[in-house]
Amino acid sequence: MTGKMPERTGRTLTLRRPDDAHLHLRDGEALAAVVGATAAQFARAVVMPNLRPPVRTAADAQAYRARIVAALPAAAAFEPLMTLYLTEQTDPNAMAAAKAAGVFGCKLYPAGATTNSDAGVREIARVDEVLAAMAEAGLPLLIHGEVTDEEVDVFDREAVFVERTLAPLVARHPRLRVVLEHVTSATGVAFVASAREGVAATLTAHHLLIDRNAMLVGGIRPHLYCLPILKTRADREALLQAATSGSPRFMLGTDSAPHEVGRKESECGCAGSYTAPVALQLYAEAFESVGRLDRLEAFASAHFADFHGLPRNEGTVTLVEEEVAVPSALPFGDGADGPLRVRPFRAGESVRWRVSYGV
Ligand code: DOR
Ligand code: ZN
Repeated sequence: MTGKMPERTGRTLTLRRPDDAHLHLRDGEALAAVVGATAAQFARAVVMPNLRPPVRTAADAQAYRARIVAALPAAAAFEPLMTLYLTEQTDPNAMAAAKAAGVFGCKLYPAGATTNSDAGVREIARVDEVLAAMAEAGLPLLIHGEVTDEEVDVFDREAVFVERTLAPLVARHPRLRVVLEHVTSATGVAFVASAREGVAATLTAHHLLIDRNAMLVGGIRPHLYCLPILKTRADREALLQAATSGSPRFMLGTDSAPHEVGRKESECGCAGSYTAPVALQLYAEAFESVGRLDRLEAFASAHFADFHGLPRNEGTVTLVEEEVAVPSALPFGDGADGPLRVRPFRAGESVRWRVSYGV
């Protein structure tokens, strides 16, 4: 169907407006190029702080928030929820004031784990006082859950993190709300499913839809390279089961992470898949693949708000079943040598739903 008139098959699915619990919006012209895609689908999104330099203080977060709001399309009703990037220098005494200033939560990047994580945490014990202060202030901890130990295989880094770091951390801070971001493994899912109250996970659409074969069989596909890396089919099935189980511990978080085409298709390509333009459609495909479209609304529009004690959104969004072509590239600001492009997930292919308001 790609390239032809879309075929309308009639089914529609109306959901309460959803939230994206994990999003990369970048900054500057790239921010202006991508923020509209998320605002068109989601009422709120938790915005990751891995800029260069990182968003470290409440003042940084307020300034970044203002740049996001200024970059929004005119009619957008979208609320960015801001996060701080934890470093070993983060001041525990700043947490209560950060909460009062409107900061949503703090992000833990093990140093070296992913894009712009070099300012992250090398030794978790060094932020223990900050974690205690966050629990006290009611700020959740959002975790990139991978060890960076060179001895550990890249496919095992999440499972080892869960055992070595996450389980002890969750036990040491019994009142801290903890989110294992973009869980990708059966081990991660099992931990979250049976953890104490106050532990949850976000799930990306791409990890629900594809496994490492999609990235590596028949040629290497750099636009599917993300971190944590795509895992096995069995892992993907465990993620899909968790997402569609109805458990309120599992919630939508796209981890949409745009990079300029040249930085993906390169000798040392960046990690990240740009899913925002088709995010809800991808989740709908994943849920439909196991006959559980009926559980999409709670996963997308209730679990995040309920876990964090926020009101659920007003208003609705409608998915119309229709084959829609995905552009092969989208604008991503201007570089020194001319316009930059970003390749969305499913570029040059299609998705099976159209997102529409007020249908
Ligand atoms: O694939 C990823 N891309 N994983 C991350 O953790 C970071 C993100 C990015 O910022 O590009
Ligand atoms: Zn991320």
